[in-house]
Amino acid sequence: MSARAQIGVTGLAVMGRNLARNFARHGYTVAVHNRSFDRARSLVAEHGGEGDFVLSESMADFVASLERPRKVVVMVKAGAATDAVIDELVPLLEDGDIVVDAGNAHFSDTIRRERALRDHGLHFVGTGVSGGEEGALNGPSIMPGGTRESYESLGPLLEEISAKVDGVPCCTYVGPGGAGHFVKMVHNGIEYADMQLIAEAYDLLRRGLGASAAEIGEIFAEWNRGDLESFLIETTADVLRHVDAATGQAFVDVVLDQAEQKGTGRWTVKNGLDLGVPITGIAEATFARALSGSVPQRTAGAGLPAHTREWEVKDREAFVEDVRLALYASKVVAYSQGFDQIAAASAENGWGIDRGAMARIWRGGCIIRARFLDRITEAYERDAGLPLLLADPYFTEAVAGGLASWRRVVAGAAGSGVPVPAFSSSLAYYDGVRARRLPAALVQAQRDFFGAHTYKRVDRDGTFHTDWSGDRTETEV
Ligand SMILES: NC(=O)c1ccc[n+]([C@@H]2O[C@H](COP(=O)([O-])OP(=O)(O)OC[C@H]3O[C@@H](n4cnc5c(N)ncnc54)[C@H](OP(=O)(O)O)[C@@H]3O)[C@@H](O)[C@H]2O)c1
Repeated sequence: MSARAQIGVTGLAVMGRNLARNFARHGYTVAVHNRSFDRARSLVAEHGGEGDFVLSESMADFVASLERPRKVVVMVKAGAATDAVIDELVPLLEDGDIVVDAGNAHFSDTIRRERALRDHGLHFVGTGVSGGEEGALNGPSIMPGGTRESYESLGPLLEEISAKVDGVPCCTYVGPGGAGHFVKMVHNGIEYADMQLIAEAYDLLRRGLGASAAEIGEIFAEWNRGDLESFLIETTADVLRHVDAATGQAFVDVVLDQAEQKGTGRWTVKNGLDLGVPITGIAEATFARALSGSVPQRTAGAGLPAHTREWEVKDREAFVEDVRLALYASKVVAYSQGFDQIAAASAENGWGIDRGAMARIWRGGCIIRARFLDRITEAYERDAGLPLLLADPYFTEAVAGGLASWRRVVAGAAGSGVPVPAFSSSLAYYDGVRARRLPAALVQAQRDFFGAHTYKRVDRDGTFHTDWSGDRTETEV
């Protein structure tokens, strides 16, 4: 077996197969391998004409067919399968070879694997790949971690097969260790928030206007021509206008209202809790899916009193504009929180992640691709250490322009009993983060009262405790 392939892909289910084809279509010689040989054989049988594939039945032949330093993309079921494939690969590889895990690994597994492979003299590159099967074939957004050194030889290949926006690749070096998979995880969390916000906007329009799904689809199509332009808004317009062939009803009306999840939203929320970063938009979106699937609770709750009032929409156009502005403002909050989470993890792990570059590589290929990501990149270019995206002048102004609408929409929804957890929690976050003084002072006092947890004062340095059960004197501790 001559070592002539520039890149190898092992794991040729839908994602691996499409990534391999993408490399081949870009002129690379691609070694292909799969645990069960049939998948590898059928890839070459069906798509061999798209480029130069080197087919191997055994892992040893697959590795032997690769040029040094070898670059092996592992695209198998995340979890134990990834470890099994790595264990098989490691004894066959040599110093300086690169193993790329392009599956949806949890970043803590990536940190563990990177350390283990480093001890073998190998580079391990945990890489986020977003865009599903379509993106894998035609250009995904790619978020590689690992060593900078590995990016020097691997990066150009990944950049070449990634999506391009204005000629710029949607792939860049993210940072060492688990940084790539971490950023992909937060990307997915933001995707949850974005989808939930869109769903709430739809619900508001449906209930407030009494409009049909198709009419709302037209509103979304119109929104897609402005600041909200994004893959998810465009998709929503399409879905809402789709008619179910079997019943002739709006498709959205025949779909069971129980949203599922594969787990990346949950991972993001758990990590937000660990880091102490309030990612309320992502959390509400994740819990909203959980609530939708809580069938016994929903059945028991279906008859609960409402005490709502009719939503009186007098000016339909003004109402639609209110919802649009509230959606935009809530979306800015969700992204602002997600970027805070990236900053916190980056600081904790010493990853040095450039948040502006992350927004740039999400502009194409991935699910949250959107026009306003350019504005986020510009904000971090103005100030790389920006502590709050909402405080960037562009976003401050954009949100301020929609504040009255946002408040009207959330208040109207509460009065009419329309659940808008992501809209309302985003507004609460906004009001919390801009507050000069929070009732956390009372919480801190309570903590000192029952647990002697101490407190600080606004007028003096030091840490204090009040003798609550005694004479209530204050001591400095
Ligand atoms: N980024 C995205 O948008 C996106 C979308 C979908 C999936 N993914 C991620 O991409 C990865 C691949 O996804 P997928 O849907 O293409 O495939 P998948 O269904 O997650 O996994 C199937 C692949 O894993 C292999 N495999 C399973 N257990 C194995 C083991 N113990 N040893 C060796 N190989 C094993 C299978 O080999 P056999 O053919 O021999 O069974 C097959 O090639 C996953 O991590 C998934 O989470 C990402």
